[in-house]
Amino acid sequence: MAINKKIKELQEKREKMLLGGGEQAIEKQKALGKRTARERIMALLDTNSFIEYDLFVEHEARDFDMAKKSLPSDGVIIGSGTIYGAPVAIFAQDFTVAGGSLGRMHSRKITKIMDHALMMRIPLIGINDSGGARIQEGVNSLAGYGEIFFRNTISSGVIPQISVILGPCAGGAVYSPALTDFVFVVDNISKMFITGPEVIKTVLGEEISMEELGGARVHSEITGNAHFFASTEEECFDQIKKLITFIPWNNGQKAKAFEPGEPKREYNIEKIVPDDPTLPYDVKDVIRSIVDNSDFFEVMELYAKNIVIGFGRMGGRTTGFVANQPLEMAGVLDVDSSDKAARFIRYCDAFNIPIITLVDVPGYLPGVDQEHAGVIRHGAKVLYAYSEATVPKLTVIIRKAYGGGYIAMSSRHLRADFVFAWPSAEIAVMGPEGAANIIFRKEILSSEDPDGTRRKKVAEYKEKFANPYVAAARGFVDAVIEPSETRRFLMHSLNASENKTVQMPEKKHGLPPL
Ligand code: HXC
Repeated sequence: MAINKKIKELQEKREKMLLGGGEQAIEKQKALGKRTARERIMALLDTNSFIEYDLFVEHEARDFDMAKKSLPSDGVIIGSGTIYGAPVAIFAQDFTVAGGSLGRMHSRKITKIMDHALMMRIPLIGINDSGGARIQEGVNSLAGYGEIFFRNTISSGVIPQISVILGPCAGGAVYSPALTDFVFVVDNISKMFITGPEVIKTVLGEEISMEELGGARVHSEITGNAHFFASTEEECFDQIKKLITFIPWNNGQKAKAFEPGEPKREYNIEKIVPDDPTLPYDVKDVIRSIVDNSDFFEVMELYAKNIVIGFGRMGGRTTGFVANQPLEMAGVLDVDSSDKAARFIRYCDAFNIPIITLVDVPGYLPGVDQEHAGVIRHGAKVLYAYSEATVPKLTVIIRKAYGGGYIAMSSRHLRADFVFAWPSAEIAVMGPEGAANIIFRKEILSSEDPDGTRRKKVAEYKEKFANPYVAAARGFVDAVIEPSETRRFLMHSLNASENKTVQMPEKKHGLPPL
């Protein structure tokens, strides 16, 4: 019977710990529309799949009366479980315990689960809800963050790292999510900033709310720190689960294959692009007309909308999509869209995900603002990312492929494996109007009918260069295809490149234009 007594004792100890910071703190958490740390884990993982580690870990701080304080599980829950059967390691900060602040043992729990994830080569999910460095623990807290950042970096490109911001993520704490692959935020709940409103008021005398400073919308639309925006925690968890289905467990594997499915008929690829090349269209409809079941999972939907990135499946296999969006600034490349695309290309390359690029780009955005914001450096990231990527690279030129945009958007010259062009493609140094005005300037100005001559010269230029055939004649385009043939050509090319191998020159690492 002695064992039964011990089991009861264990149960009582567990129950006490499971209460976290106590009922009052939990009520405060709920009043803000937030779940508790354990509820979040349960909502995200498969039912009954979670095993918790280090439930009984306690802090060791002694200063500022800390010896008298009990902080259950030291304010962070760690463990592992599954999502649709795929193993994941997870931590969730418990705001009800000392505001989820990060002390020595708290950070050691996080680094323990990070080490576990890396060793087991499984994805890591971190749920952040914390007041930052535990002030009473001084440099021990700072050391803890450093240990986390180091592991984020070492794990980068080996295992997927996912950050979920479900409360404050303040001060240096923001740098762990910033080092991970995907950041999820929820409206009115996520708050991310280096220095909070109090400090800003003291130092700069400016009043700003936490929401305006670093709320979910700010990071989804303006800073580009967040990759997925949700209205509720529930919606956020659904997004994370969906992402997990698209990515592999680690860089040594491919994403799980699914049952292939045809695109939906409502996305008719022949009807999406207007006849008039000056009219816009939604490139997401083109993607949906190509991918299995028309299921396109967009990443960074609200940021730099002039480029679209995300995942879909082709014949059941995960594929990354990068596409200029004519609906937004004519699909031009600029500082933000270059950053967005380059990072995604590198993600796909690190995790064995082939990339399909859909091109309709008038070039890089001109202007003083862009030049001074560093469009040279940021724009170069796209060239670097495509050139360096060794996963299968497939390109479809839909319409405009002008100037630097033509080269940057996964051209043959950056080692695209397959380049297809629709008959509507215009591959040229610049648009026909601009080109004719420059090269025929004298002729146009000296003619008796400048407008008529300009029209004639534009038509002449179009006839000669604004088509896919000049590039096709050089072998820069492998095939000019009808829009309706696109999926078939892409599926064929993906199958053909299943065992693609590339030998790159040996080096420690390159120097991307960061
Ligand atoms: C210790 C903390 C804490 C912290 C919150 N708490 N933050 N304890 N260290 N950093 C405690 C509070 O004392 C309180 O304890 C409980 O958590 C809940 O906090 P409240 O303030 O009541 O909650 P709320 O009103 O919701 O405000 C949340 C908050 C605020 C906005 C996050 O707590 C706050 O501003 N905290 C400090 C943020 C900060 O400046 N952190 C340090 C950043 S510097 P009781 O016992 O009363 O319930 C940093 C450097 C890292 O992180 C550098 C690494 C490179």
